[in-house]
Amino acid sequence: MTGMLNGKVALVTGGGNGIGREAALAFAREGARVAVADYEAGAAGETVALINGNGGQAISLSGDVTVAAQVQAMLDGTIAAYGRLDCAFNNAGIAPYQVDSFGQLTHEWSEASFDRMIEVDLKSVWLCMKHEIPLMQAAGGGAIVNTASIAGLIGLNAATGYVAAKHAVIGLTKTAAIEYAAEGIRVNAVCPGFITTRMTARTREQRGAVIIARTPMGRFGEPREIAEMVVWLCSDRASYVTGAAYQVDGGLTAA
Ligand SMILES: NC(=O)c1ccc[n+]([C@@H]2O[C@H](COP(=O)([O-])OP(=O)(O)OC[C@H]3O[C@@H](n4cnc5c(N)ncnc54)[C@H](O)[C@@H]3O)[C@@H](O)[C@H]2O)c1
Repeated sequence: MTGMLNGKVALVTGGGNGIGREAALAFAREGARVAVADYEAGAAGETVALINGNGGQAISLSGDVTVAAQVQAMLDGTIAAYGRLDCAFNNAGIAPYQVDSFGQLTHEWSEASFDRMIEVDLKSVWLCMKHEIPLMQAAGGGAIVNTASIAGLIGLNAATGYVAAKHAVIGLTKTAAIEYAAEGIRVNAVCPGFITTRMTARTREQRGAVIIARTPMGRFGEPREIAEMVVWLCSDRASYVTGAAYQVDGGLTAA
């Protein structure tokens, strides 16, 4: 354990699977106590068992990040367990395949699919920050990382609502960064490329070879490679970093 986050308390949303789970494990490895939030309560519980079984400290919180009262309850649960909040990784999200308009072009998307994408991938990030920031103000500082995507930096075919939401997450991140910099709260975004989680299972099967060919590093990324960026951004080693959006994409957007 290198202890980059010794003594800190971290909340991870979407911590039951994929990138969120790896980030929760990484926060714990670096010495943080971790609140693992997910609307899949069983999955969050599995992440917690992995952490606690390995000598770390974690609790699970179930809740939907699109519902204000449930976000408030997640933060209340974190404070009840650990008394403070230092780091928040607002990561819960869905992919285009999880709405009805999957595979459709911009003019073909249904209003319901567009609204759902904005609600889960954008509004939830704002809602989480809305409830996290007062706790960090009370603590005299903190660090927030929001999960955007390379889809927050470039367009992606047949993913209109997703791309719109992820671009906007970067806008939210920059605005909060400038608003709270003087209070010692840093706010950054991470922009994963194509990462091997269940979210990309279908993409890997259908277009994996094309994506690998377009990626200078010639492979998909692993969730732990995003987690490393997240814990670093939350640590004091990133003390002058705020308002940034970091690609972790094997060079995809540089090509
Ligand atoms: N996998 C990739 O290639 C990739 C690339 C770029 C960005 N991302 C982003 O990374 C984040 C995590 O994705 P992942 O690949 O780990 O996916 P995943 O499906 O493995 O994990 C997402 C987690 O979020 C949870 N979640 C979804 N909606 C929720 C809600 N309303 N309330 C509470 N929890 C909710 C799910 O239960 C799940 O545990 C997402 O924001 C995604 O858009 C992923």
